[in-house]
Amino acid sequence: MPQNILITGANRGLGLELTRVLLQLGHHLFAINRRESEALLQLRNEFPDDLLLYAADVIDEPAIEDVLRRISEEFDHLDLVINNAAVHLEQSKPPIEQVDFSVYLPTFSVNAVAPLIVIKHALPLLRRGEGKLIANVSSEAGGIGTAWRKWEYSYCMSKAALNMASQLLQNALKEEGIKVLSLHPGWFSSDMGGYAGAHHTRASSAGRGQTADPILGSGWSGIHRPAWRAVGLVTVGLRGTSCVAQFYWEE
Ligand SMILES: NC(=O)c1ccc[n+]([C@@H]2O[C@H](COP(=O)([O-])OP(=O)(O)OC[C@H]3O[C@@H](n4cnc5c(N)ncnc54)[C@H](OP(=O)(O)O)[C@@H]3O)[C@@H](O)[C@H]2O)c1
Repeated sequence: MPQNILITGANRGLGLELTRVLLQLGHHLFAINRRESEALLQLRNEFPDDLLLYAADVIDEPAIEDVLRRISEEFDHLDLVINNAAVHLEQSKPPIEQVDFSVYLPTFSVNAVAPLIVIKHALPLLRRGEGKLIANVSSEAGGIGTAWRKWEYSYCMSKAALNMASQLLQNALKEEGIKVLSLHPGWFSSDMGGYAGAHHTRASSAGRGQTADPILGSGWSGIHRPAWRAVGLVTVGLRGTSCVAQFYWEE
């Protein structure tokens, strides 16, 4: 059954490919972007009835509120919200002695605070949906128990904060039947992930299990890994490569 899905950061990278895959699965997408891209506009030409584009910066609360108000004027519910938009502004991996803290608050705002802004304004529609699912795209970089890096403090700290936000939201919303996931998509090729050496794990090597989340249809399957539990698997083609972004949450 087609689902109403809100996604942020759909103009490139994982957000663009998730949008493409979910449209191909027959879902209805509301995509919030700061700017459009040729690829996204092309997708809208392919799916004019099922892809609606909204311009907003995810940290701009009045703009996000306005987008959700406009959606609610035409649609009565959302089934899934995917908080995908994020930044990694500290690419050079400096040691603590050379850290430039000017990128810290912007990173924290986009990666940890903005998902809460989106949920705050999407909740009335989400409450009326059948899916009742929030998927916060996090990263293993935010896992405290499994941390191995000695750098990239800003990105890692922001994703750890997002994981906490997801847990608090889950505590707050579970009695309403709303599920909140903090997901690790794996390392994949994108502007953020880079284009050399990223894993392109294929579904066959991961092993297919039963469909973990029927809301996303047949593109997603359940698999298990030590310490992480996969909730889904979606095949995405980034920059001409066919890779699988695997979504996990810490058990
Ligand atoms: N790549 C990896 O290997 C990897 C690994 C683990 C987790 N992740 C996570 O997966 C998600 C997608 O990553 P990606 O690799 O696809 O990143 P990406 O290629 O850098 O794309 C980031 C997306 O976020 C959007 N965005 C950033 N700041 C925004 C803002 N203030 N308002 C609205 N949109 C904003 C960007 O839009 P603009 O074009 O306007 O900047 C872009 O659409 C992120 O949450 C990332 O942390 C990625």
